[in-house]
Amino acid sequence: MSRFEGNVAVVTGGGHGIGEATARRLGAEGATVALADVKDPTAAIARLAADGIDAHPYVLDVSDEQAVDDFAGRVGADLGPVDVLVNNAGVLLTGTALTVALEDWRRTFSVNVDGLLLMARAFLPGMIERGDGAIVNVASTGGLYGVGNLVAYNASKGAVVNLTRNLSTDFMRAGVRINCVCPGWVQTGFNDPLLEGVTEEDVEQLIDRTVPAGRQSDPSEIAAAIAFLASNDASYVSGIAFVVDGGLTAAL
Ligand SMILES: NC(=O)c1ccc[n+]([C@@H]2O[C@H](COP(=O)([O-])OP(=O)(O)OC[C@H]3O[C@@H](n4cnc5c(N)ncnc54)[C@H](O)[C@@H]3O)[C@@H](O)[C@H]2O)c1
Repeated sequence: MSRFEGNVAVVTGGGHGIGEATARRLGAEGATVALADVKDPTAAIARLAADGIDAHPYVLDVSDEQAVDDFAGRVGADLGPVDVLVNNAGVLLTGTALTVALEDWRRTFSVNVDGLLLMARAFLPGMIERGDGAIVNVASTGGLYGVGNLVAYNASKGAVVNLTRNLSTDFMRAGVRINCVCPGWVQTGFNDPLLEGVTEEDVEQLIDRTVPAGRQSDPSEIAAAIAFLASNDASYVSGIAFVVDGGLTAAL
């Protein structure tokens, strides 16, 4: 398949995990990818290049408004107009409403929610001008129901789900489709702070007990869903929260 031939795609949090897998999938289908991460994504670029993917590294903190605006200018100059934006960068900090540090709550919202708004503001005008574009936000099943000890993360991902609906309502008529994916358990190490002190065996048992698929997903399985939503195969799909969770939430 070459659904993204001639397209430029931006993937945030692209240096690892779901972001890297998404860059690999979009690139394999023809996209030139701007890979942005707060940590230097050079290692991911090398892995992608080895797979024949045309990806370009950018260091970016999505919560920094000036940095996002500068990034948008640089990508436009380096690679041309952006067709696909994948807002994947995220952080997970633990705590309940009584224990979460206010600083952690604010950091979570500034990356997971403000970052997404800033990126949308930076790239929507170009998409609107061309009357074409797709944005895929990475939310979480945690944005759809409560998971213990994750109040800031889950509240932020709930905001991503509804921000997606609102962006879609405001901009689909201008030719831009905006959706989000809600992954369940994905094997990237992202959930390690939540699993501190829990043995690997206990995690496996928990997954086996609660996820009908009986396993965590590989990042490439989330990337496949993101690629679908970003592609013209989803030309009549906008504003949805696409759950990719091995049956987890259906079984709750
Ligand atoms: N792994 C899971 O089980 C899971 C489940 C549901 C949703 N998600 C979501 O998927 C997304 C990707 O997570 P992952 O599992 O691939 O984790 P990961 O840790 O492999 O990747 C996250 C990437 O985001 C980058 N990042 C963090 N803060 C950033 C910032 N301010 N600006 C730019 N980049 C930043 C990190 O450096 C890292 O490379 C996150 O939004 C996460 O909430 C993950």
